[in-house]
Amino acid sequence: MNQPYRLTLLPGDGIGPEIMAIAVDVLKVIGKQFKLDFIFQEALIGGAAIEATGQPLPEETLTMARNSDAVLLAAIGGYKWDNLPRQQRPETGLLAIREGLGLFANLRPATVFPQLVDASSLKREVVEGVDIMVVRELTGGIYFGQPKGIFETETGEKRGVNTMAYRESEIDRIAKVAFEIARKRRHQLCSVDKANVLDVSQLWRDRVVEMSANYPDVELSHLYVDNAAMQLVRAPKQFDTIVTGNLFGDILSDEASMLTGSIGMLPSASLGADGPGLFEPVHGSAPDIAGQDKANPLAQVLSAAMMLRYGLNQPEAADKIEQAVAQVLENGDRTGDIFSFGTRLVGCRQMGDILLQILES
Ligand code: IPM
Ligand code: MG
Repeated sequence: MNQPYRLTLLPGDGIGPEIMAIAVDVLKVIGKQFKLDFIFQEALIGGAAIEATGQPLPEETLTMARNSDAVLLAAIGGYKWDNLPRQQRPETGLLAIREGLGLFANLRPATVFPQLVDASSLKREVVEGVDIMVVRELTGGIYFGQPKGIFETETGEKRGVNTMAYRESEIDRIAKVAFEIARKRRHQLCSVDKANVLDVSQLWRDRVVEMSANYPDVELSHLYVDNAAMQLVRAPKQFDTIVTGNLFGDILSDEASMLTGSIGMLPSASLGADGPGLFEPVHGSAPDIAGQDKANPLAQVLSAAMMLRYGLNQPEAADKIEQAVAQVLENGDRTGDIFSFGTRLVGCRQMGDILLQILES
């Protein structure tokens, strides 16, 4: 056995615990097969943490996460906590762990699985073969810029303020990640901004252009965010790797995920300069189906694969998981979110068991 990997598991809320259980089972089997030793430690985040401690990200959770090799998160949030003050909302816990671990690079693949191409709301010929990687800046921009808040003006009227700001160094480091990812893919990078209106975007564009000198093998293009949103539904196959700021990336990655018709299938990775990365499904906590064994665990399982690939540098183990997921789809097993006529409806646990069987066969 190699040195054990210490993994922090954050099951969170809603369907989180159900899908996390499947990913852990998968990791245990993969661990045996690839001689990887995992130490699993669980901690609280989101609504579950609010209930237990009053805080969406207890200090203990952040400390445990910092001292681990990777963090696997399921999902956070639920109706129950939607109306709490911002400091106590589940989302605040998520933002705090991103900031606390310095996870500035968020990788969100939008891949159309050939077996699920008809699940997309777009035409087959538009989405077949789509394979996009959105690289979203995650710890800067308007999410974190100062000043922010709701202030009272002289007339007593309230004014809400957020600030979109990027430093050169923040742009350079996310651009570097994106160029390097594009290099491992189809060597095309599209940077998305709003440089026709926003000064912060002009600086973004200038820096990305400057950085491109180091990557002559990567073809760089630029789009304004409104046009990018349109092009994504018009002709998504033109995109390989996209790099953009925090807010634009939030919106465009949701849009890109919908091209695939199966948001329940998409993983993501959030990486920092060093230290552990955080890996989580793109979908949310789906409180409406929580505890009913209906959730699709595949995005969580694929997040564990991304963890192996990008967090622990175990690409063969990641490949094996991804192949097993493809095999499940090939066999025609489907949870409700991806079910279609002629396929077989299975629950969350059953989907997990089928996956384990494939891995062990
Ligand atoms: C996401 C989510 C979060 C974000 C929310 C829940 C804070 O929408 O991960 O995309 O806006 O970053
Ligand atoms: Mg979002």
